[in-house]
Amino acid sequence: MTILAVETSCDETSAAVVRDGHVLSNIVSSQVRLHAEYGGVVPELATREHLRNFLPVAREALRTAGVAATDLEAVAATQGPGLPNALMVGLKAAQALAFALRKPFIGIHHHEAHLYSPWISGQPPVAEFSAFEPNVSLIVSGGHTMLVHVHSELKHRLLGCTLDDAAGECFDKTAKLIGLPYPGGPEIDRLAAHGNAAAYEFPRPLLREPGDDFSFAGLKTSVRYFLQKNPGMLEEPQRVRDLCASVQAAIVEVLVTKTIRAARRLNVNCVTASGGVTCNSALRRELAAACQQERFALRLAEKSLCTDNAAIIAVLAERKLLLGSEATNPDADIAPNWALA
Ligand code: KG4
Ligand code: ZN
Repeated sequence: MTILAVETSCDETSAAVVRDGHVLSNIVSSQVRLHAEYGGVVPELATREHLRNFLPVAREALRTAGVAATDLEAVAATQGPGLPNALMVGLKAAQALAFALRKPFIGIHHHEAHLYSPWISGQPPVAEFSAFEPNVSLIVSGGHTMLVHVHSELKHRLLGCTLDDAAGECFDKTAKLIGLPYPGGPEIDRLAAHGNAAAYEFPRPLLREPGDDFSFAGLKTSVRYFLQKNPGMLEEPQRVRDLCASVQAAIVEVLVTKTIRAARRLNVNCVTASGGVTCNSALRRELAAACQQERFALRLAEKSLCTDNAAIIAVLAERKLLLGSEATNPDADIAPNWALA
């Protein structure tokens, strides 16, 4: 099956073509520079950029894949959750294309696409659902932090999520306090590589409490108080690196410990992780070490598939059709607050 998908839920305009699990193209136009000036995504600007970028990105996805629009057998788009007007651009364009081609349209849940993204790998990427195992999956991004029990392909149950800030938000807001550019996650990762993670002690929220929920707002606030008590430390580069490493260690310890604990409790042999924060080198390293110790298989989404992109939307849409899911109503509306089941 040859399928085109588009993703416009936040600040990436992306289109991808997938055929029989093979990613033929995955074009991503990032707006990160545009929003950097404001220290976060400005929804109105994101929508305008999606409108400007959508057609060139979709054409490039078809051109790179060597596929004509008339070769497409289905068209998919992220239906939610996400920024309402941003979602609207991709969804309505995809529905119009499906209508013009008289092909099925499939609306995809953004987090469900992240959830199954660790099963796509290789260069060029190929979906490997033949190796699928029941797993506990960590989805960790700028907007979300959640743990999911995946029983079998397309059958999953949300275990817990963040009660306030997402882990990526904690990285980004902490970075802002330190004076680092947006998005701060990759900056903290880079500086932490040369820092001492044991230099400063920060809270590990909800680490010892039962349950699979997360909370990161208090950790960010503790960094603010720490900086108020230690004025001038930001002028000392090594102390900044130590601070980055210490904050990163707190976030990563919470994510890894709670993921492993859920996997043990639910008696699965496999752990997966996806979403933008899964690019973090300490998280990748610590998850690998913990899984090796516990003898869990580990599947981390490839870095290029961690941040938002349309290939993960296309792969999931194709799997859904192959496994018998019905096409979405071609007039379906966006679902900005769609919760993962
Ligand atoms: O999945 P994503 O592209 O967008 C959302 O759906 O939110 O994730 C973006 C988030 C940002 O918070 C960014 O700072 C974070 O992922 N991120 C990282 C790293 N790379 C991206 N956080 C920590 N370390 C990284 N290397
Ligand atoms: Zn995402």
